[in-house]
Amino acid sequence: MQVTLIAAMSADGKIAEEKDQVSLDWTSKEDTGFFVKKTKEIGVVIMGRNTYETIGRPLKDRLNVIMTRDLDGRESEPGVLEWTSDSPVEIIESLAKRGYDKVALCGGASVYSAFLQQGLVDDLYLTVEPVLFGKGIPLASGFDRIDLDLIDSVLLGEQSVLMHYRVKK
Ligand SMILES: NC(=O)c1ccc[n+]([C@@H]2O[C@H](COP(=O)([O-])OP(=O)(O)OC[C@H]3O[C@@H](n4cnc5c(N)ncnc54)[C@H](OP(=O)(O)O)[C@@H]3O)[C@@H](O)[C@H]2O)c1
Repeated sequence: MQVTLIAAMSADGKIAEEKDQVSLDWTSKEDTGFFVKKTKEIGVVIMGRNTYETIGRPLKDRLNVIMTRDLDGRESEPGVLEWTSDSPVEIIESLAKRGYDKVALCGGASVYSAFLQQGLVDDLYLTVEPVLFGKGIPLASGFDRIDLDLIDSVLLGEQSVLMHYRVKK
C-alpha cells in the first residue's frame, strides 16, 4: 500500500491557526487544484473527524475514510464514506484486502501523527504557503526523526511551493 501524506503548511510549519479552521480560507487556489487532482488520482482519502467536519461533506469521486473513536450515530455509505475506529494499521489492512493499493492522508495533525508514528507513510506532498501564523497546529509530532529524500519541487502559481518527499526506509 502506498500511503501519501498531503498537507498545506504556513512557512512556519503549521497546518492551521485554529482547530476548526477551514483550510480553503488560507491556502491558494493552485494548492486546492493540486489537492483535488492528486486525491482523485489516488482514490481514497483518510482524515480525522475534525478535518471532516471543517469540510462538512464527503469529497466527491473519492472513498472518504473518517477516523473517530466514537462511532455512535455515524452512518457510512459504501464506496463514499466510511467511519472507522480502527487503528492506522487495521485501516490499511482492510483497504488492501478490498483491492485498494494507494491512500491519501489528508490530516489533520492527529491523523498525520498516528500514521507517521507507526512508520506507515511512504511519501509526502507539502505545499508551503506564503504566511507565518505565529501560533497554531504543527504538521505532526510524537515520532522519532524521519529522514526524507526530496523527489521534486515546483512553484504552484507565483507564491506557493509544492515539495514531494519520499520517506527514507
Ligand atoms: N493544512 C492542511 O493541509 C490541513 C489538512 C487537514 C486538516 N487541517 C487542519 O487541521 C485541523 C484539524 O486537525 P486535528 O489534529 O485537530 O484533528 P483531526 O486529525 O482532523 O481529527 C481528530 C479526530 O480524529 C479522530 N482520530 C484521530 N486519531 C485517531 C485514531 N488514532 N484513532 C481513532 N480516531 C482518531 C478523533 O475523533 P473523535 O474525537 O471523533 O474520536 C480525533 O478527535 C483543522 O483546523 C484543519 O483545517 C489542515
